[in-house]
Amino acid sequence: MRRSPLLAGLATAALLASSLPAAAQDAPDPNRMPPSQDPARTANGLAQTPQMGWNSWNRFACNVSEKLIRDTADALVASGMRDAGYRYVVIDDCWQGTRDADGFIQADATRFPSGIKALADYVHARGLKFGIYSDAGTKTCGGRPGSQGHEYQDALQYARWGVDYLKYDWCSTGTRNAEEAYATMADALKATGRPILFSMCEWGNNQPWLWARKIGNSWRTSGDITDKWSGKHGYSWGLTNIVDMNAPLWPHAGPGHWNDPDMLEVGNGGMTDVEYRSHFSLWAIMAAPLIAGNDVPNMTPATHEILTNREVIAVDQDALGVQGRRVWKDGDREVWAKPLAGGGRALVLFNRAEAPAEIRADWAMLEVPASVTFAVRDLWAHRDLGKRRGSIAATVAPHGVVMLALKP
Ligand code: GLA
Repeated sequence: MRRSPLLAGLATAALLASSLPAAAQDAPDPNRMPPSQDPARTANGLAQTPQMGWNSWNRFACNVSEKLIRDTADALVASGMRDAGYRYVVIDDCWQGTRDADGFIQADATRFPSGIKALADYVHARGLKFGIYSDAGTKTCGGRPGSQGHEYQDALQYARWGVDYLKYDWCSTGTRNAEEAYATMADALKATGRPILFSMCEWGNNQPWLWARKIGNSWRTSGDITDKWSGKHGYSWGLTNIVDMNAPLWPHAGPGHWNDPDMLEVGNGGMTDVEYRSHFSLWAIMAAPLIAGNDVPNMTPATHEILTNREVIAVDQDALGVQGRRVWKDGDREVWAKPLAGGGRALVLFNRAEAPAEIRADWAMLEVPASVTFAVRDLWAHRDLGKRRGSIAATVAPHGVVMLALKP
């Protein structure tokens, strides 16, 4: 009889648990090639464009509950966000209770009295996908049980619940080897037979962009974002600092494997709407995962307008799958460009200064001859600006952007 992948996973979990002490599972085998160099390894085929969804952490931190997730799922549908592309509803840290007598992870019964399976069913019934969070160490960053030594068992539990997405963090990992640790969970997810998007949250500590393209669908490139324009705030970074960490990594992104400059703060109140428009535009031009992190049922019209700007989302989701990059910088003035399928370009004219600035994008910055004509569209004004040859300039608000599409 052919065993189901789920049963095979369970057998592997039992085998691992019974035959190997926890420490032995972590040590890289010197005779084994690094997982990223194994020619037999294949990517899971998910996230051919950057994943889109919502995650509880930025707005609610550990204050998660089944009511919050249900209300958010309902609001994603009612607000049109689901139909604009936000498909994954992800519970971040602090959903976990303890492990049962057999070692299977259980939800915190106070916060999730109906259990995770019922919640996943609720989310799925609304045409959405369901995600969850764990950690490669002994404990999550919030101090809940991590997956170290329980990878196959946790993956199996998630698959039984109907999980479609795993964010996998890096707290309490001690001397673990990151490539081995993430590959182990990737293999465990694969063994379930269920397609589960794998979002790696290792903060860029071990340069995952160099080894993770067949292990995860995205990898964080920095410490945590905070809802501020700039600066370091404890372990977290302001928006512009995060942008500068993620930008140079553009060559490593592509369909199925994306740089992740962390989740969106749009609508969380620490920045102006002009700054949130810059945030959203820069994430889109960097082909970043667009994971909203706001209070969806109670968002303002301005937040809704930013998060559901389909012309900007289309830049992020463009089929060519190239991460845009900064092609020109002079002090606080920057030009960013992203090649689009069909020969077009998306541009962001970005003004970091406290005063308005004129910013000109020259075709030479795009490596396009000055004689070429593009039809130009303003993606925030939703207006065609007509045909332009050689360059285009705009006056850009302080901390603001002008975002354009150039069509051949
Ligand atoms: C880390 C991650 C965050 C969030 C928290 C949860 O800081 O980087 O995105 O998941 O842990 O505790």
